[in-house]
Amino acid sequence: MARVFSGIKPTGGVHLGNHLGALQNWVSLQDRADAVYCVVDLHALTVPHDPDELRTATLSLAQILMAIGLDPDRCTLFVQSHVHEHSECAWIMECTAAFGELRRMTQFKDKSEGSDFVSGALFTYPALQASDILLYDTNQVPVGEDQRQHIELTRDIAVRFNNRYGDTFVVPEAVIPEAGARVMDLQHPTAKMSKSDESPQGTVLLLDEPSVVEKKIKRSVTDSGSEVRYDPAEKPGVSNLLAILGAATGQSPQRAADGIERYGDLKAATAEAVIEMLRPIQERYHELAADPAETGRLLAKGADKARQVASATMARARANLGLLEA
Ligand code: TYM
Repeated sequence: MARVFSGIKPTGGVHLGNHLGALQNWVSLQDRADAVYCVVDLHALTVPHDPDELRTATLSLAQILMAIGLDPDRCTLFVQSHVHEHSECAWIMECTAAFGELRRMTQFKDKSEGSDFVSGALFTYPALQASDILLYDTNQVPVGEDQRQHIELTRDIAVRFNNRYGDTFVVPEAVIPEAGARVMDLQHPTAKMSKSDESPQGTVLLLDEPSVVEKKIKRSVTDSGSEVRYDPAEKPGVSNLLAILGAATGQSPQRAADGIERYGDLKAATAEAVIEMLRPIQERYHELAADPAETGRLLAKGADKARQVASATMARARANLGLLEA
């Protein structure tokens, strides 16, 4: 059975882009593969953060992931910092990645530009991500389009390590959905929807009330003209709504346009599809949030399962690198 691994950061609330680009695939892959999913709290430390907020966000994110359908009996769900091998392996990844490769990462350029404080870890972030993936002998990594470059780098690191020190890591590949791989901001449809607080009206959060979802989608920026057609270059706003509608209803953006003639109808159909998709998720989330101790227990079990795989990979890597046995 193929091994699947993916991760999500506990910062800023889970949004529609996360869900349609990655999390929907996470849920469906848990029945077709040996799936391992991780709340990557160490990655959240790469930018200045509030400790209380991080603790709350980590727990809440785990509950959201269970609410969307991840079942700790059918997948391994855990918190990155609970499995120490992630940080240990990250050092080995940093020693294997080239400085020039890390410098070419567009996410580093985007996130460092204009920031008052740029940590060293923001630069080496993709090495920690490679460690996450390679520790689990991962075949497939379900992610949105924005992570493609990091997965390519992970592949290059795995191949280089194997060539230098002998077969150690499985070389993974990205799994990116046809619709929803790059959900754009509703107010700025040429920029990707993101967790930052920069565009609250352009970002639909999974825990937004139905009335809020409706308002955000109905006020979304559309394009000149009046034709409803999927054409991201000419019609970014309309195409984004079609991509959202398609991903929420399990069809391509082109098919989602069938029978819709006016912008108003497109917005109404998209709002309704998103609200219906989120309704059961929100109900389940509120049930889970009422019992944080149970979430903690499930995450501890997940970390135990994850550690078994990660520690075996680390032992192999240590031996192949020539580190003296303790
Ligand atoms: P993160 O936490 O930013 O996002 C989690 C997942 O959501 C996807 N995504 C989107 N998909 C479509 N449209 C969007 N607007 C959008 N925004 C986000 C992301 O592609 C991602 O799949 N570095 C990663 C976390 C990570 C990871 C890993 C992922 C750490 N280790 C190992 C895979 C494997 C990140 O910051 O994702």
